[in-house]
Amino acid sequence: MSEQQEQTLADTRAPSFDVDWWTMLSDPQFLANPYPELNRIRELSPIHYDPASEIYFVLGHREFNAMAKTPQMGRDTRFWAKGWSSPENRENDPETYELFIEFQPQMINANAPHHRRMRGVYEKAFNPRSMMAHRATIEEECRRLLDELPADRPVEFMNAFANPLPHRISLRLFNIPEAMDEPIARWIAALSWLGNIVMTPAQKRQAQQAQSEFKAYVRDHLADRGAHPEDSFIGLSLAAADAGVMDEEELVNNVVMLISGSRTSLTLLGNGLLSLLQYPAQFEQLRAQRELMPRAIEEMLRFEPGSSLIPRAGIEDFQCGDVVIPAGSLAIGLVGAINRDPARFQNPDAFDITRRPNHHSAFGGGPHICIGKALARMTGEVAFNALMDRFQRIELAGEPVWWTDRSDQRGLNEFPVRFGY
Ligand code: HEM
Repeated sequence: MSEQQEQTLADTRAPSFDVDWWTMLSDPQFLANPYPELNRIRELSPIHYDPASEIYFVLGHREFNAMAKTPQMGRDTRFWAKGWSSPENRENDPETYELFIEFQPQMINANAPHHRRMRGVYEKAFNPRSMMAHRATIEEECRRLLDELPADRPVEFMNAFANPLPHRISLRLFNIPEAMDEPIARWIAALSWLGNIVMTPAQKRQAQQAQSEFKAYVRDHLADRGAHPEDSFIGLSLAAADAGVMDEEELVNNVVMLISGSRTSLTLLGNGLLSLLQYPAQFEQLRAQRELMPRAIEEMLRFEPGSSLIPRAGIEDFQCGDVVIPAGSLAIGLVGAINRDPARFQNPDAFDITRRPNHHSAFGGGPHICIGKALARMTGEVAFNALMDRFQRIELAGEPVWWTDRSDQRGLNEFPVRFGY
């Protein structure tokens, strides 16, 4: 880089304030309630540069959406010059490199044109209209769990309902037998740590083992061709592979990822119900005006989003507002800050189920915007309607406890609730 280029880059580098990013992002107190601190930091600047990790943190709504949409940045983390799956890391830390490289070939980690090629296989099947065909399955799984929920005594809502519902739906949609419920839940949980950026050696080992077992299972499952109707998600995947649209590794990894989508849906159910219980007037209004349900779901996603960190790696230098994010850098969108940016949302710290418009970023943005969003929304609508139809009273039965061991996802560890007729 010439001296002049270096000077220009320095002038346009995001400001760095006195924020100890990785200490903050792993601080249990921050993780239990990140919003006051995120609001404070966003007021300093919508984009920050952390000299210690050389990562850009994006907190502004406008800036995040620009970064999510530009082709100058993408989700292929091999472009992150110092990242796990960078060529540099191949020498430094081959085990971690392998872990990420094996997980690499799939739509979420691909840039154009490979991203489009793979996403195109599934786009139609996951759109809201196609999802209607699965509504009865979602309702049935919901009913089964509600039938098992005891009334008039404290229930741990995550174990009893929020965790199993999206998981069971996912198994049904991918024609997976119920006997696989437990191992798949375990593999998904272990693999989910790949999104946390910082992983302990034990988490890496468990993720590696989960990855090889999960992929081996999916390979066998795909091989049982008779078990999959042509128009099912597995049928579509097989047809795309037969037509040469995806290779074997892409096929297996995309199916693993799509099955794992249930992991984030559980946060909508837990976080969303907690918001309703913390704002009883809103809950009452929703009971009285069920037609507000779609807007209430959007507000749950905005107010307590389940995905907290959304990464992009620089393919070329990208001018984002006043700042240039250089090629080779990692930038991370902090959804908790983006969704409460007062430049985009009026009264952003209020939970308001009538909010409209509500252009939140809980599902990310640009070409990678969550492909499972219609499924997640439908799961939320069916679940909250069914809970209200079944129970006259839904109350907190103790102190809810947030996950405080990870910064990439926000969900509840313990959520005691009492249901009554
Ligand atoms: C409330 C539930 C969910 C939330 C909050 C959520 C959130 C997200 C986010 C933040 C992204 C990244 C978007 C970006 O980089 O801009 C994403 C991508 C993705 N999600 Fe979801 N998700 C949810 C449910 C699901 C479900 C149910 C599935 C499975 C069908 C799924 C499958 C995917 C896939 C495959 C991608 C990658 C899409 C691409 O790269 O084109 N998600 N999701």
